[in-house]
Amino acid sequence: MIRIAVLVSGFGSNLQAILDAVADGRLPGVQVALVVSNRREALGIRRAVRHGVPVVYFPLSPYTQAGRPRQAYDADLASILRAFDVTWVVLAGWMHVLGRAFLSHFPSRVVNLHPALPGTFAGTEAIARAYEAYRRGEIAHTGVMVHLVPDEAVDAGPVLAQEKVPIYPEEGLDDLEARIHAVEHRLLPQALYELLCCGEDEEGGKV
Ligand code: GRF
Repeated sequence: MIRIAVLVSGFGSNLQAILDAVADGRLPGVQVALVVSNRREALGIRRAVRHGVPVVYFPLSPYTQAGRPRQAYDADLASILRAFDVTWVVLAGWMHVLGRAFLSHFPSRVVNLHPALPGTFAGTEAIARAYEAYRRGEIAHTGVMVHLVPDEAVDAGPVLAQEKVPIYPEEGLDDLEARIHAVEHRLLPQALYELLCCGEDEEGGKV
C-alpha cells in the first residue's frame, strides 16, 4: 500500500474527493494513512473521522507564541508523518507554505492543488482574483492545476495535471467557484491515480 497523508486547513472537499476515490476503488493500492489539520474547526477533520482515518490537529500558533522558529514546526510535522509511515503528501487546501525542513523528508513527493492555471494567481483568493481579472478584460478563462512541490515557491512546481475552466459573462463569483471546485474534485484524484497507481517501486512510488 502507498500510504499518503492529506493536509487540510478548512472545508476539506478535496480530501473528501480523495477519500471517495479510495473507497470506490479509483485509487487502487493507495491508503489515506493520516489527515493533518492546522485548524481545529476544519470540517476536513470530521470527514477523516467519518472514514476511520487517523487525524492529527497540529497548529502553528504554539510554536510562534513560544518564539520557536518556523523550521521547528515544519520538522516536527515531517516527524509526525514519518511516524505514520507516510511516503506521499497531498496539500489539499493546506494554508501554510512548507519549507525545506519539511520538504527534504519528502523530495518530489509532495503534491499541491491550486485553483488556477500554472503561473497564475499564486497564493490565496486565487479564484476571486481570476474573477476580477476577467471582469477587467485581462483573461478569458482560468483553471485548476495539480503540481509537485519541490521548494518553498508558492503554488509552483512541475505540473502533473491542469485543466482550463471558462468564465462566463453573466456568472457570479459563487458560480465560478462551484465550477472550479467540481473540476478540482475530478482532477486531483485523476492526477494521483496517474502519479501513484501506474506501478509501484519498493519505496512505494510509481515506476
Ligand atoms: C481548493 O480550492 C484548493 O485548490 C485551494 O484551497 C481550496 C481547498 O478547498 N488550495 P477544500 O478545503 O478542499 O474544500
